[in-house]
Amino acid sequence: MNETVLTVHQTSRPDGFPTAEQFTFVESALPTPAAGSALVENLYWSVDPYHREMMDDVPGGFALHTPLEGRTLGRVIASRTPRLTEGEIVFHRQGWRTHAVVTPEETRRLPHFDGVPLTAYLSVLGGTGLTAYVGLTRVARLQEGDDLFVSAAAGGVGTATGRFARLLGAGRLVGSAGSAAKVDHLVRGVGYDAAFDYHDGPTATLLREAAPDGIDVFVDNVGGEQLAAAMSALREFGRVVRIGTISQYNTPDAPPPRFNYADIVEKSIRMEGFLVSNYRDLQEELYEFAVPHLRSGRLSLDETVVDGFEHIVDAFLGMLRGRNTGKIIVRDHTRTPAALAA
Ligand SMILES: NC(=O)c1ccc[n+]([C@@H]2O[C@H](COP(=O)([O-])OP(=O)(O)OC[C@H]3O[C@@H](n4cnc5c(N)ncnc54)[C@H](OP(=O)(O)O)[C@@H]3O)[C@@H](O)[C@H]2O)c1
Repeated sequence: MNETVLTVHQTSRPDGFPTAEQFTFVESALPTPAAGSALVENLYWSVDPYHREMMDDVPGGFALHTPLEGRTLGRVIASRTPRLTEGEIVFHRQGWRTHAVVTPEETRRLPHFDGVPLTAYLSVLGGTGLTAYVGLTRVARLQEGDDLFVSAAAGGVGTATGRFARLLGAGRLVGSAGSAAKVDHLVRGVGYDAAFDYHDGPTATLLREAAPDGIDVFVDNVGGEQLAAAMSALREFGRVVRIGTISQYNTPDAPPPRFNYADIVEKSIRMEGFLVSNYRDLQEELYEFAVPHLRSGRLSLDETVVDGFEHIVDAFLGMLRGRNTGKIIVRDHTRTPAALAA
């Protein structure tokens, strides 16, 4: 093996929207795994909004000039541990690089479900799907017939939320997204009853038109104006599931949302945020819920797959600007033949 390894480093901190110049691709020799570890060639990479938060100088953020971390799926190509077999596909967190040396403790074996593509382990069966599942079942404690509003509804978490909510018996589903094409996909593809482009006017007006009778649950990926609008639309005993605040990741000085705090008392509203990392124990439950639906065709994948590791930075920056529909995944198309993908 005389291949080289490519690793993405962050070289400077962004002020507002990050740019490609704040990253660099570093080339090095293919490492040899030490005893107890294995060499993995990465096949699929997840790039995520939380990477934008990690680009800032924050505790636990990315160190400059150091390999970045991210969720990835790779194939073991050389092993010096009986616990990792050459040829097997594993999940691990040393993303943003073509190859990684991993120990068994740093990897998770993927279960094999016939007919389920590998990308699903980074989308509906991965952290993205788990976030949607936890938000609906544990935080919203969704009841049959509940009417929902979901922000960033056409993204990874948003599409999974819509599809899961439908399967769990939700009532009216309303979503917001950033383009007419996404709005169309939400209604025709995902099963939302109504959707709107949040650029088309004040969210409060657009939401009132889409959900004239109000909502029971707001699943919030965005924060800002959409959160304020949803607070007014919520009915008595409404729940706000705070998942993310992507409207502020590149504009930290944006004013916080303004809404009537008295609504929280008078409508007995519960607002709860969570980190999916605190719900890893629900992974098996997610498989039990989602895999039969994937196999029966009642649950489809919403993914934007970008071919070529060399495009990983562009894929990340594009996702922050809304270029993805569903979960954004980068694929090494030279190493993922059709047989592997299914
Ligand atoms: N709590 C947790 O543990 C957890 C776990 C996973 C994700 N999250 C959060 O969940 C949210 C969605 O994550 P994801 O991975 O599914 O990403 P995603 O929704 O697939 O991609 C991000 C989307 O955000 C939208 N967006 C960007 N800037 C925006 C703005 N200013 N206002 C409104 N929308 C904007 C874009 O879509 P449009 O074209 O519609 O603007 C973009 O496609 C993020 O806030 C993320 O941080 C939280």
